[in-house]
Amino acid sequence: MPAAVDQYLAENAAAFEEQLCQLLRIPSVSAQSTHKGDIRAAAEWVAGQFRDMGMKAEICETPGHPIVYAELCQAPGAPTALVYGHYDVQPPDPLDLWETPPFEPTRRNGNLYARGATDDKGQMFTHVKSAEAWLKTVGKLPINLKFLIEGEEEVGSEHLDDYIRLNRERLKCDVCVISDTSQFGPGLPAITYGLRGISYFELKLQGPDRDLHSGVFGGAVVNPANALVKMLTALVDDQGRVQVPGFYDDVTPLTERERKEFAALPYDEAEFKSAIGVKELNGEADFTNIERRWARPTCDINGLTSGYQGEGAKTVLPAKASAKFSFRLVPNQDPANLKAALETFLKERCPAGITMELIGYHGAPGVVVPLESPYVAAAVKAVEHGFGRRPVFIREGGSIPVVSTFHDLLGVDTLLLGWGLNDDNTHSPNEKFCLADFHRGIKTSAALWEELGRVKT
Ligand code: BES
Ligand code: ZN
Repeated sequence: MPAAVDQYLAENAAAFEEQLCQLLRIPSVSAQSTHKGDIRAAAEWVAGQFRDMGMKAEICETPGHPIVYAELCQAPGAPTALVYGHYDVQPPDPLDLWETPPFEPTRRNGNLYARGATDDKGQMFTHVKSAEAWLKTVGKLPINLKFLIEGEEEVGSEHLDDYIRLNRERLKCDVCVISDTSQFGPGLPAITYGLRGISYFELKLQGPDRDLHSGVFGGAVVNPANALVKMLTALVDDQGRVQVPGFYDDVTPLTERERKEFAALPYDEAEFKSAIGVKELNGEADFTNIERRWARPTCDINGLTSGYQGEGAKTVLPAKASAKFSFRLVPNQDPANLKAALETFLKERCPAGITMELIGYHGAPGVVVPLESPYVAAAVKAVEHGFGRRPVFIREGGSIPVVSTFHDLLGVDTLLLGWGLNDDNTHSPNEKFCLADFHRGIKTSAALWEELGRVKT
């Protein structure tokens, strides 16, 4: 890589951190309508970054939150990379558990704490700064570069597929790049080749037409909270197996080779447990912790609501009970297939006297991307340059819906290059991003443009 690029990165490290803090101060929470204005402000801010470095940038409206698109395609003969990231963040709740406020980025112990620090503002920003470094020193990029930065990833990328479908020509590329995943551990960078999919639901139960005195009516009127718990419990058995009929029919099993490779990774179970404050782990029988998280489907309750939640006791038989829950899926399971079987399963278990409604939210299939490609080889070299170490190849358990869309609509595979760590507290209080990893990510990205630029298309 040109020395001037590396030098630019070193000289501007503090400025990059300051700029990231500006973006982190914008509470762009996509799930909450009160933040609509903040979402737009974040989109404008991101577009401004591209314009400041001389790239064409556009804010593209959708029926939901806007998409930022930017490109600079002045490297004839070189490949085209499409970088995807998201400027929206998860809700910061519960607020009282944050040591410093979620939208007041704060440095502690070499980390930057804020909602979105790693997921995904900080990671996404590494690719913006690396492009800037090339443009401000060499004056041009060694590759054709396109950026698609959306504002609805954390709510299921609802309007992204339509945008991609309508803008196929504009988004045409040879490879996609996403940094929204993690390293295997501190100092051990990874290239992720598989992600789980998701299917998200809400179940609403209605019993009596108002809350009742549980002494006067309890035992004679069906309690929707009792019914909800029973219905949800039926979803997964004691062996960790999802009980909805047909759920496992299309699951691609783990290969022996993958099981061996996962087992060979330097994983310390005691450390894993202590990092999340649990004494025991549990899950589907006959699978290891890594296999369960990366390559096995599962079901988790994400939220439960019913009855009295305030201080002290209240003897109430609640009128309503509801739950949000989601299934993590693995390759070959179709998220669209689940709802009908789930609805039947729940209806069969819904007691008389309760009416139920099942709402389907977002879905995305699980993905596995091929590793035998010149783009992956180029990425390995770039990671070696940025992190000083060869990456390991891993799968992960989270979901990034656009990966399968890129494959299906653009016909391209994605490089999942994550700079995060498993203890970054994504979706939790005190989310953080290690600042050294932020800078290593920028350096890797700067090298990536050169390495990918050399690939013969
Ligand atoms: N960055 C995550 C995805 C991720 C997390 C990948 C951990 C690998 C490891 C992303 O922003 C995310 O949280 N996605 C959602 C998608 C959902 C809302 C459709 C998820 O996985 O819950
Ligand atoms: Zn993310």
